Amino acid sequence: MWESLEGYLRPGSEEERLAAEIDTARLPRHVAVIMDGNGRWAGQRGLARIEGHKAGSESVREATETCARLGVSYLTLYAFSKENWKRPRQEVVRLWGLLRTYLRKDGRTLDENGLRFRVIGDRDGIPRTAMAEVERLEKRTAANGRMTLVLALNYGGRAEILEAVRRILKGGKVRSGDLDEDLFASFLSTVGLPDPDLLIRTSGEMRVSNFLLWQIAYTELWVTPVLWPDFQRKDLLQAVVDYQKRDRRFGDVQSRPGEKG
Ligand code: FPP
Repeated sequence: MWESLEGYLRPGSEEERLAAEIDTARLPRHVAVIMDGNGRWAGQRGLARIEGHKAGSESVREATETCARLGVSYLTLYAFSKENWKRPRQEVVRLWGLLRTYLRKDGRTLDENGLRFRVIGDRDGIPRTAMAEVERLEKRTAANGRMTLVLALNYGGRAEILEAVRRILKGGKVRSGDLDEDLFASFLSTVGLPDPDLLIRTSGEMRVSNFLLWQIAYTELWVTPVLWPDFQRKDLLQAVVDYQKRDRRFGDVQSRPGEKG
């Protein structure tokens, strides 16, 4: 059972030093990650791209456990975008194979540690076999209340917003004067999730790549040159330490109580 970070971090290491710097009363409630650089990681080693995705799966496991032990409430990982379908067919097929294996094999660990699992994205376009695993795992973990692990699968931010507009128009029940931000957000696939406090992007690219466009309006961005398969506990802890130094004003002139670093 994953308890706290105690006993999980290497004694005397940088990760332990970073963990000691974190104020657990001001953790980011929701951390989102654009996991980038798998292909480059593989290329640098003369390996096929899928090997980078496999190594990236290990980083997924480590980041999940670290966030759960730290006390983060929501972790959202961008695993497959709507644009990823443009990749060579062999990579797409093998990536979905990897995702299916993860859903089948890691479900038990997630459940045993009290994590809730959820998928955001366009479910209709998710391959049927993977979707069956998604539904099984969502059902199995539905009553868990520790951290929610959200996988973005076949996800695109613009598509999500368009779909929300379509559903509002099709339903014909929302009057324009009643449509505010909260009501609109309830039509997005992230309904019920708080907006991310911290968005991590690996591999150094300064882009949001169509991820959670509505939801990251006031999210703190943290970019590291580290490629996703090399992303370790210390990198995650460093992101949280830096997040706690940020001054979050949400357009106001003053920080919100408890949110100034
Ligand atoms: C971006 O790297 C990464 C992806 C498109 C896929 C992310 C998938 C994983 C981390 C592994 C499987 C996920 C889970 C949840 C088990 P890239 O291929 O674009 O890298 P590049 O920019 O260096 O080419």
